[in-house]
Amino acid sequence: MELEKGRVFIFDTTLRDGEQSPGFSMNLNEKLRFARQLEKLGVDIIEAGFPVASDGDFASVQQIAGEIRGAQIAALARTNLADIDRAWEAIKDAANPRIHTFISSSDIHLELQLKKTRSQVLKEACAAVEHARNYTKNVEFSPMDATRTDRSYLCEIVEAVIGAGASTVNIPDTVGYAVPDEFGELIGYLFENVKNIDDAIISVHCHDDLGMAVANSLSGLRHGARQVECAINGIGERAGNTSLEEIVMALETRKDILKLHTNIKTKHIYHTSRLLIDITGIPVQPNKAIVGTNAFAHESGIHQDGLIKDKTTYEIMTPRSVGVSETNIVLGKHSGRHAVKEHIKNMGYSLTDEDIGKVFKRFKELADVKKEIFDEDIEAIISDDIFRIPDKYKLLYLNVVSGNAAIPTATVRMEVDGEVAQDANFGVGPVDATFATIKKITKTGHHLLKYAVNAITGGTDAQGVVTVQLKYNEHTVVGRGADPDVLVASAKAYINALNRLESLKADRKG
Ligand code: KIV
Ligand code: ZN
Repeated sequence: MELEKGRVFIFDTTLRDGEQSPGFSMNLNEKLRFARQLEKLGVDIIEAGFPVASDGDFASVQQIAGEIRGAQIAALARTNLADIDRAWEAIKDAANPRIHTFISSSDIHLELQLKKTRSQVLKEACAAVEHARNYTKNVEFSPMDATRTDRSYLCEIVEAVIGAGASTVNIPDTVGYAVPDEFGELIGYLFENVKNIDDAIISVHCHDDLGMAVANSLSGLRHGARQVECAINGIGERAGNTSLEEIVMALETRKDILKLHTNIKTKHIYHTSRLLIDITGIPVQPNKAIVGTNAFAHESGIHQDGLIKDKTTYEIMTPRSVGVSETNIVLGKHSGRHAVKEHIKNMGYSLTDEDIGKVFKRFKELADVKKEIFDEDIEAIISDDIFRIPDKYKLLYLNVVSGNAAIPTATVRMEVDGEVAQDANFGVGPVDATFATIKKITKTGHHLLKYAVNAITGGTDAQGVVTVQLKYNEHTVVGRGADPDVLVASAKAYINALNRLESLKADRKG
């Protein structure tokens, strides 16, 4: 296969491996919005979902395939033929569709989980690839748990699926067990021992259970792999996947020794990461490489002294190169619509004029009570007012009485499916009273896993951002709400989580 020298293909699996992990579920509109951002970021392949998993998954893959033109759209399928048919049905309208089929190859999985022999699995893998090839030439195969698979059997299966027509073969470190030298050496071993290996692109897909997903992926690329599977903010099953921003910036920053490159427009990285946080409500830690809030913050006096003299003393890449703005102070009461619109655009959002109008209205309300408006405030407004999922429940009114000589009591008026409902209840504190009232009105049964409050920015006039995590049967959801009043933010977050739960239940039906 003729490949541009040093070119690495970025296969983003945020919407599949990432979305399937607890708390990261997204509804159809959110997935579509995120896929548009991935296209803008310049990823080569978007793995949009696992169509056979549910009707909701099927519909979102189909919508993404119908709309996104600038990236290949992959759909995941097990090796059974009905899965492959369903995957194809979902992606057939894509500009460049890819079927990604997989089956386990390690003896541990074969004996303890699948109860199949090596030769059965080999046959199934080839039959799946041949079946997928009837639909498209763009077929990827993954031998799951490859890193714990017997090497000669792995070579046999890789050779057989390439013979059957796979154009990409992905080598997953499914359980995050490998260490970098070993993983790179495994990829090198495949290049040496699989006769037809040059007829396919070799891909790597590493999980981060031992914190080595990025290092393992880099090692795989150094030994000849040319596709890397990764996810924004490193989300994914258990400890997550290779983080897209880390692997891309490692390739970019150390191209002097790695001599590899991608087509990613790195200046969109930060916004893509923030968008994912906005949609899922799950933040990254402050010290997260590339996209954490401290990633470009220099605290020590010696470092600051060096930076003043010359940035390169302590900065290996510029914040600007990944889209982090260097001036965060922003807008205030007197900022006009045009300034707000420009600012929103510079932050990486593409909003319609109507949406800008809505944001501007909320911005003015906030600027009346808060002197300086920061990027984080704008993000919170956009996420609250523009990108909220279609609401079954809506907060209309909240009044809370509390204090050292009062029984905390909350009165809530809400819209439930368009009907106004109102009630009051007590609690051990004001938040507890608010949640108890909302629960009474919505008559929902679920378990509250987490409640957390943070100030978006410094100062007592800062907006409080509240995160609420709920569990209902197998579903876990996260809701977020922001407001200068922490109790209102709490009510919004709780209601947002309930709305997400409703939408998840609907999506996962079937
Ligand atoms: O981790 C894994 O093995 C996977 C496969 C489906 C590629 O996600
Ligand atoms: Zn995986």
